[in-house]
Amino acid sequence: MELFSSIADWRNYASEVRASGRRVGLVPTMGALHEGHASLFEKAKSNGDVVLATIFLNPIQFSVKSDYEAYPRVAEADRAVALANGVDCLVEPTLEEMWPDYPEATPTKVTMKGVSDTLEGEGRPGHFNGVASVVAKLLTVTGPCRAYFGEKDFQQIAVIRQMVRDLAFDVEIVTCAIKRDAEGLALSSRNARLSPEDHTRAKCISQAIAAAQAEVECASELRHRMRTILRAAGAEIVYAEIVDNVTLRPADDSQAGDFRAIITAKIDGVRLLDNGPVTIKAKN
Ligand code: PAF
Repeated sequence: MELFSSIADWRNYASEVRASGRRVGLVPTMGALHEGHASLFEKAKSNGDVVLATIFLNPIQFSVKSDYEAYPRVAEADRAVALANGVDCLVEPTLEEMWPDYPEATPTKVTMKGVSDTLEGEGRPGHFNGVASVVAKLLTVTGPCRAYFGEKDFQQIAVIRQMVRDLAFDVEIVTCAIKRDAEGLALSSRNARLSPEDHTRAKCISQAIAAAQAEVECASELRHRMRTILRAAGAEIVYAEIVDNVTLRPADDSQAGDFRAIITAKIDGVRLLDNGPVTIKAKN
């Protein structure tokens, strides 16, 4: 596995891959790699891509500084996971090269509206502008590629798709299904902060998503089912919504078709995300 930290080496590597007639499969991460990331590496490999993973803990996507500081930094373990899962090239860009002005505000940013303002965007101001800005830089340095993202961060994918469309990045976005642990909890670096009891209690989130996957005739019934399950388990609901797959606008009761059930709930202060596809039946 190649290991780089400079933008020049990373850019050259990606150019050489393309010159050899192969495609770069970019897997952007912030580290603390788990099986969810491994499934992205695996998918890129199975598509025949040369897998280029990046680990960059992006400070400008954290609305709360203490969350950035508390984020796990486990570089050695991450390198071992990347190597064991067939990553061809691991890039650990430096903060100095990614955001030369940090901690001053970076003068050049991608700012978005609409899909970035709702759901996660409401409680985490500036979060998706930070995500869009860093992904724009990762895509710019990597050049034409496929880029892989996990569906646990469903809104993040919607934001990135919109940015890619609006700024015409030469990239094919590939998404991978959520990986879950034995109790059904969507894998996340935050799960490590749960006590064993809270981990079991957090099952209510995937149960609420599953309950919304029953075929019914209106979105409000699905919302009600999810919220009832979450409240019964004592979860603090940040949102539990049925939304349009692209715009993320809430579905209203006149609508039928394919939507997304999407939840963020706190279990003892730990913010957990989950989502899944739902179908609302047309009324007879
Ligand atoms: O999903 C993540 O890990 C991050 O938001 C990403 C896409 C790597 C950008 O920092």
